[in-house]
Amino acid sequence: MRGWASLEGSRSPEPLPPADGPPEASRSSPPGLPSLPPWRPLLRGAREREGKRSPQSRWLQLATVAADGTPRLRTLVFRGWADGAALDLLTDGRSAKAVELVRQPQVELCWLLPRARCQFRLRGSLEELRGVDGQVERERHWQRLSPSGRALWAWPEPGAPLAPEAAFPEVWPDAAPLPDHFHLLRVALDRVELLELLGHPHRRRRWRRETDWAEESLNP
Ligand SMILES: Cc1cc2nc3c(=O)[nH]c(=O)nc-3n(C[C@H](O)[C@H](O)[C@H](O)COP(=O)(O)O)c2cc1C
Repeated sequence: MRGWASLEGSRSPEPLPPADGPPEASRSSPPGLPSLPPWRPLLRGAREREGKRSPQSRWLQLATVAADGTPRLRTLVFRGWADGAALDLLTDGRSAKAVELVRQPQVELCWLLPRARCQFRLRGSLEELRGVDGQVERERHWQRLSPSGRALWAWPEPGAPLAPEAAFPEVWPDAAPLPDHFHLLRVALDRVELLELLGHPHRRRRWRRETDWAEESLNP
């Protein structure tokens, strides 16, 4: 598989612990680091149950709002955590979503983990990554991509009419510099909802940053 659907798009996708490792809930944060929000171990546990090699443990849906106020939804690859409650995605700055996010930086992500029988809905907004730190982070993600993963940024403008003579390289051309349209989307989350379909009745919980991620139980 090539392109977005390739799990090899990253040289080193965010590692999950070995199957026989301790569940994240039982691990404590390293000394000096703030503790993780309580939904993080639940999400990690669900991804573990989904299976390390399962695409669903890395694919999620990103919803944005278009200029006319109507919704847009598409699948993206999860590229890792930036901190306790911020995650990274990669996209092409020439794509519709990149333009939509400039106007409306608030997003919702939906992460369905079918084998684990749960759905996470993550709400947040795009963090501005400026200056040297932003550049370093973009470079870090670029370096983690395989040559075929990078090649997508050498393709013509996404969503534009297909030209018969257009070239779609399979690998990123040697020595080409990191392109400006390689966009790192860092989403700072402020609300997380989990729906679990495992028992009867279904279980629905919510956490909000404003209440210090205190758990709230909701009707499913
Ligand atoms: C499994 C899968 C993974 C994808 N991963 C990404 C991704 O990480 N980044 C991305 O920009 N598009 C990704 N895409 C393509 C998007 O879903 C979408 O078609 C494209 O980004 C154009 O979206 P837009 O026109 O709404 O901007 C992926 C598609 C699939 C099916």
